[in-house]
Amino acid sequence: MKSLQDYFKELDNQNKAVLAVNFYNFETLSAILSAAKATESAVILQSTKNTIDYLGLDVTANLAKTAIQQYDVQAWLHLDHAEDIDLIKRALDAGYDSVMIDASEEPFEENCKITREVVETAAPYGANVEAELGYIAKLGQSKENASFTQPEEAQEFVDKTGVDALAIAIGSAHGFYDKEPNLDTKLVDRIRKNTAAALVLHGGSGIPDSQIEKAIQNGIRKINVATEVKNGFMNTLREELPKTSEIDLRKVFPKAIKHVQQLLTKKMEMVNQA
Ligand code: 13P
Repeated sequence: MKSLQDYFKELDNQNKAVLAVNFYNFETLSAILSAAKATESAVILQSTKNTIDYLGLDVTANLAKTAIQQYDVQAWLHLDHAEDIDLIKRALDAGYDSVMIDASEEPFEENCKITREVVETAAPYGANVEAELGYIAKLGQSKENASFTQPEEAQEFVDKTGVDALAIAIGSAHGFYDKEPNLDTKLVDRIRKNTAAALVLHGGSGIPDSQIEKAIQNGIRKINVATEVKNGFMNTLREELPKTSEIDLRKVFPKAIKHVQQLLTKKMEMVNQA
């Protein structure tokens, strides 16, 4: 199978991007893979530490790997927002294709040092490594505290760490937005010209398509989406459950799976056409 690093190079040559979607259980995983299959898209399957705590590491890795084969889709398994090198090592041993070290809240030099250590750890596995530079608000953090990624810092960071992919702060935030975001897509272009790393847009839920398209045109290669999946799945269940006394969950869950599949199908089509 093609490495994610090679796939990012292909995307860079074509000026295109790939969707990276978080899964939480078999239902959301199958929704993502069905959408990828229907749109003939490659996709990155993301799990966070919370999902690993919920499912167990081996179940998370084996479930994703087996499902990729069953759906016959080009897909990679990625560890999203890890802050702990021990979890990263365990994920690599379990077969993850890609890991993110998030030391973005550390001072610049410390972020470099921690990221460099992860790059060295991942090298024997041939795994892709993503890091984050700048302030991208996490769930519950202030969205006002903007500190955008500076092109010169990005260059120095990538040169010092050798990281493959870089999450940049350009005005996006995790979770839904209180008001419409206004991405600094010109900044993406300036960062792209300064670094060879694949640029990543976190906080993809709730960003208007037109801004995502512009961000891709200016150099974003990976777009992360999580909140819209959780929200779509749970809201569908909330609507469906009062209408039925069915206890067979295999008859109720498919409605929520279908809803997530449809929303991701639209997003993949948009990303593919950008
Ligand atoms: P959203 O939850 O805002 O879609 O962000 C997802 C993300 O960036 C995961 O790393």
